[in-house]
Amino acid sequence: MTDRQRSLTLSRNRRQGAQQTDDLAGILAAKVVGQPNVIDALVPCVEMFQAGLAPDNRPVGVFLLLGPTGTGKTRTVEALAEALHGSAKSMLKIDCGEYQMEHEVAKLIGAPPGYLGHRETQPALTQQKLTSVASENCGLSLVLFDEIEKAAPSMARLMLGLLDRGILRLGDNTQVSFEKTIVFMTSNLGAREMMREIAPEVGFQSAVAVDPGEVAGKLEKVAMSAVRRKFSPEFVNRIDHVITYQPLDAESFSSIVDHEVDRLQRHVAVRLGSRAFSVDVPWAVRHWLMEKGTSVEYGARELKRTVHRHLTQPLAAMVTRGEIEPGGCVLVGVRRDRETLVLGTGKAGTPRSSAQPIALLVDGNRELLQFLEQVIAEEGWETLTAGTAAEARRVAARRKPHVLLTDAVLPDDRGANVALQLCETIPDLQAVVTTGDVLPTEEERTLIRNGIAVLEKPFPVREAMSLLRSQLLRRPSGRLGDSPRAA
Ligand SMILES: Nc1ncnc2c1ncn2[C@@H]1O[C@H](COP(=O)(O)OP(=O)(O)O)[C@@H](O)[C@H]1O
Ligand SMILES: [Mg+2]
Repeated sequence: MTDRQRSLTLSRNRRQGAQQTDDLAGILAAKVVGQPNVIDALVPCVEMFQAGLAPDNRPVGVFLLLGPTGTGKTRTVEALAEALHGSAKSMLKIDCGEYQMEHEVAKLIGAPPGYLGHRETQPALTQQKLTSVASENCGLSLVLFDEIEKAAPSMARLMLGLLDRGILRLGDNTQVSFEKTIVFMTSNLGAREMMREIAPEVGFQSAVAVDPGEVAGKLEKVAMSAVRRKFSPEFVNRIDHVITYQPLDAESFSSIVDHEVDRLQRHVAVRLGSRAFSVDVPWAVRHWLMEKGTSVEYGARELKRTVHRHLTQPLAAMVTRGEIEPGGCVLVGVRRDRETLVLGTGKAGTPRSSAQPIALLVDGNRELLQFLEQVIAEEGWETLTAGTAAEARRVAARRKPHVLLTDAVLPDDRGANVALQLCETIPDLQAVVTTGDVLPTEEERTLIRNGIAVLEKPFPVREAMSLLRSQLLRRPSGRLGDSPRAA
């Protein structure tokens, strides 16, 4: 190989390496929503391994993932396994809940020879198991000690050598090397205090801008002090990186719902082959799933189950009964009582309803209307427009909007009347009245009493958008104030 060839190859490798980690960051960000700390901490560690620069005689990295339940800690390791090895299962997962008693911890390393049952007890951590979760693509094994706080104290003692020298001695005196391994531990230690610390800021209706860096620092401090109370200083010192997970906000929940719905749609397409059909899940249904499946106390943990129970199972029943023609379409809606979903069949070629919210904009000023329409369309939302109150009522009767932005003064009526009336006929409608003037006191009071926001003109478009979004993702009141129970 000439020097030039060599340098070309080198630079190509470097480019490929850079691209791989760019990809990794992108893939992780898509799979683990709303937790930017994760990428900043994980990617450099994987890079170091891929560059062959990981230190000898110790694991490639030791990560402690802390934070409230259902915020993506376990999902992070699954996502990394998917990204590196193509499957979420390509990791060695130790459910620490199964090692709550001291004698159970011995199962990790197996019984010493001569002990009863030593041949039957396969240690949970063996070199072979560790190697089998790496792949041709990537020689890095991922080991997850999930919910570490549940394990008996001897687990932490047993892990000291593993974390420090990358070596675990088994019951039969053989050694397992963790040199090509990233060790993850997850825990919700301190989660309750974390939630209390930021309680005013996790409000779904909160409009206060908080500095995410400051919050993250505060949370880490709270969580780490809980960790220090539980584990010995030697143990804590061997942790390379602590990642604190924040409680997810409504927007993150909403995009996790989209992921789950996509997953279901792909599943139907792949599994049923030529008998496949499409599943039309409009925005209102996605919003309903979010309300049902997510909470401050359990994060997104219940979401999969909610989708399964209300969407996957009824779909499966329809398939079994032969109700869906191949190539057809299943339309999903929310039942009137808002307790369950309704599934009905549509003909092939029925246009899909929007997975995004529909906004109705009402203003006598056509230019302003066009401008707002453009901004909202850029967001991916569907827009309807009307120049008068009468037109707004007609438009809304044909196609129900999820959010209404109306001027206070319309050529033929007060905007407040339109907002109040539409909110009454469309149960879930979120409305905002914009005004260039001070509203009559009585009118303003009525609006506020009915949960309708008032926005004073002139307003920056970004502010209007974020108000619309927060109105839209708002939860039914009552849930918000519930005190978080740590699971
Ligand atoms: N940040 C997130 N990004 C994407 N999905 C998430 C996130 N947090 C939770 N989920 C969803 O909720 C489920 C439970 O999350 P998990 O990672 O197991 O929570 P925990 O933080 O308690 O380990 C996941 O399987 C995933 O479907
Ligand atoms: Mg978990």
